[in-house]
Amino acid sequence: MNIAVYPGSFDPITNGHLDIITRAAKIYDKLIVAVLVNVDKKCLFTIEERVNLIKKVTKDLKNVEVLGFDGLLVDFAKIHNSKVILKGLRTVADFEYEFQMSLMNSKLNPDIETVFMMTSSAYSYVSSSAVKQVARFGGSIEGLVPEELIAEIKSKF
Ligand code: PNS
Repeated sequence: MNIAVYPGSFDPITNGHLDIITRAAKIYDKLIVAVLVNVDKKCLFTIEERVNLIKKVTKDLKNVEVLGFDGLLVDFAKIHNSKVILKGLRTVADFEYEFQMSLMNSKLNPDIETVFMMTSSAYSYVSSSAVKQVARFGGSIEGLVPEELIAEIKSKF
């Protein structure tokens, strides 16, 4: 079984993330969305909230599982029998950081490959931090995040 791990903070999940998840679910037998428990930056949503928001919007994708993780990503991938870390790339601005992380991960475990998927152009400007900033100041986040999460995100501010 070909299993991929798609990691991130997902604070909150955006349409850009969901685009990658939907497309990857068609390629891999199983896709594990791995939500980072301890991020250096302070998260708006708790780990339980972030996991539940993702579960809500991926409920129809039967081969997608959503789990929290702590520690090294390569260890999480190994425990879950995955040899693939899947990352979305929006623009060249993402490249440097992602390239560095993929090299570090391959040093930590050379058996695990990082695979990059280009984000659809419609979402190349969307990020969780931009969504939070727009929501904080009362701007419209329609089209940036899944429709059913809009009220929940707005209620945080
Ligand atoms: O959505 P984000 O915040 O860009 O996701 C970053 C994430 C979770 C992919 C990254 O911070 C991560 O992999 N953290 C786990 C710790 C780890 O394995 N570090 C070694 C690689 S640099």
